[in-house]
Amino acid sequence: MRVQRTDSQKPEWEKIWGSMEDSVRERDVYFIMDEIKMDYLLPLLPNAGRTLEVGCGAAHLSCFLAARGYKTVGLDYSSKALLVAQHNYLLTNVEGSWLVGDGYQLPFSSDTFDVVLSAGLLEHFANPIPLLSEMVRVLRPRGIFYADIVPKKFSLLRALDGLRLKKSTLYEASWKKKTIITFLRKVGLQNVTVFPAGVFPPLWVPIIARLSLYRVLHARMTDLFKPLILKLDRTQIAEYLGFYYFCQAVKGGAT
Ligand SMILES: C[S@@+](CC[C@H](N)C(=O)[O-])C[C@H]1O[C@@H](n2cnc3c(N)ncnc32)[C@H](O)[C@@H]1O
Repeated sequence: MRVQRTDSQKPEWEKIWGSMEDSVRERDVYFIMDEIKMDYLLPLLPNAGRTLEVGCGAAHLSCFLAARGYKTVGLDYSSKALLVAQHNYLLTNVEGSWLVGDGYQLPFSSDTFDVVLSAGLLEHFANPIPLLSEMVRVLRPRGIFYADIVPKKFSLLRALDGLRLKKSTLYEASWKKKTIITFLRKVGLQNVTVFPAGVFPPLWVPIIARLSLYRVLHARMTDLFKPLILKLDRTQIAEYLGFYYFCQAVKGGAT
């Protein structure tokens, strides 16, 4: 089946990554968030294997996985994003591979990867089914699917973002847990787990947000409140105030 699609968001992603100074070494709230995602995810993964991150951007999660011995592949349609990803691999002192490619037509045979993941990708598509189907196609039977989804919704972390002048034109879907579960089941995934998470303190606070000292303080605050943040994950409070949905599932079929 031919997939109807447009690349209208690609120039904006190229612009974002072209001006991005990203470092996996900086222990900011996003680093802490990735640590938490990994703590949830690692017990569900095989001990070793090949992973594919679609729309990898700076490839933060792939860096974490590579550091734990997984053979990681990062794919993004922005070549500028992949430069940031390579820089992060160098900083983390890990090896992996990456390629410029389109999530709608992944350049891999079916049933190739032990783990297929995406972080902050799917919410940028009004209809994520074609992308999800491709991700599931290249996942081996009984392989692990993981995605975190950051829909357009209120969250404590972004509560004061509206006061910022800078606006993104990137599309963000406003899905709830139930809709996400429906999508994942529709592409044949089984044992689907989706929960709201990430009740982090507000990041963008007027005036002091520009100070790098605030980012350091924010990370300290996040570390301080981490036990509470973890307790709120999966609850109704996270549904209303959380930043993202943790989504995990298994591909059907025999190994
Ligand atoms: C929010 S960013 C992901 C950030 C990433 N998880 C990280 O840790 O930096 C979404 C990424 O998806 C990529 N992307 C969007 N549509 C895509 C497509 N159709 N194929 C491949 N990559 C795509 C964008 O270029 C962007 O880098």
